Amino acid sequence: MDTYCVFGHPIEHSKSPWIHARFAELTGQTLHYEKTFVPLDSFVAVLQAFQATGGKGCNITLPFKTEAAHIATTCSPRVALAQACNTLKFDATGTYGDNTDGLGLVADLVGNAGFDLKNKSVLLIGAGGAAAGVLGPLLSEKPHSIWVANRTVDKAAQLVQRHAQIAQTEGVDCKAFGLNHEALLSQSFDLVINASSSSLQGGDIPVPHTVLSSHGMACDLMYGPAAQWFIQWASAHGAVARDGLGMLVEQAAESFQLWRGVRPPTQQVLTELRALLNRA
Ligand code: ATR
Repeated sequence: MDTYCVFGHPIEHSKSPWIHARFAELTGQTLHYEKTFVPLDSFVAVLQAFQATGGKGCNITLPFKTEAAHIATTCSPRVALAQACNTLKFDATGTYGDNTDGLGLVADLVGNAGFDLKNKSVLLIGAGGAAAGVLGPLLSEKPHSIWVANRTVDKAAQLVQRHAQIAQTEGVDCKAFGLNHEALLSQSFDLVINASSSSLQGGDIPVPHTVLSSHGMACDLMYGPAAQWFIQWASAHGAVARDGLGMLVEQAAESFQLWRGVRPPTQQVLTELRALLNRA
């Protein structure tokens, strides 16, 4: 049986085996998908062992996405932009790498939430790995603007600089700001995306609520308890709040399609997964 795996540190929380098992059932594919905890200094060795035993592909989660980008022999332009890789596919020609995180976010916003990004104003909070994974695919949707706001403004500036070419090609006003820049204090956005990890560290929402538009969209890339504070904050100020569970399912679907050539039914799996988590 074709075997797939998700590698991470930690990994116990991962919903990917459940998601891919449902995708396989619903598409009639025969495969096995497991999760593996990887010691911090052993990613390459663990990956090689998996490949040697016939593994067909894998997902990579924190903190190995950057290392995975260097392992791929060929990769999608998304990997170069994000400088991170969450999906590898092994075949006779080598190891192909992709980053499906941003595709997953866009698929969730457009397909599940019915939010068309074209000509919209977007505020992306954060400039770490999560933000880097989504900026390229967001730009490809041709919003009017994407402003990247980060506590450390230099990191936002580097991220924006790396995406300058695609932003120009897509005609998007893409700029970097510090969190307290006055331009952010006088502006509201059609879509606010929280890609910072401030809530994990017990911090407040790092921007004022005036960035939210009434009936605009606000999305946290996290899900479960980590996203609740942002969701409550955004809802309380009139925005349509969304967590990252849809993105999680959609990025998995992109990986599944890359490996199996079949697009699984994501909305059903998202509904089931949300019910499962609510019960838990
Ligand atoms: P991830 O892979 O989850 O993106 P990361 O690469 O460590 O993790 O990035 C974390 C992001 O959250 C960064 O943008 C970080 O800001 P800095 O670049 O200034 O470190 C942001 N972040 C973390 N804690 C924060 C806080 N308390 N307030 C505001 N931003 C915070």
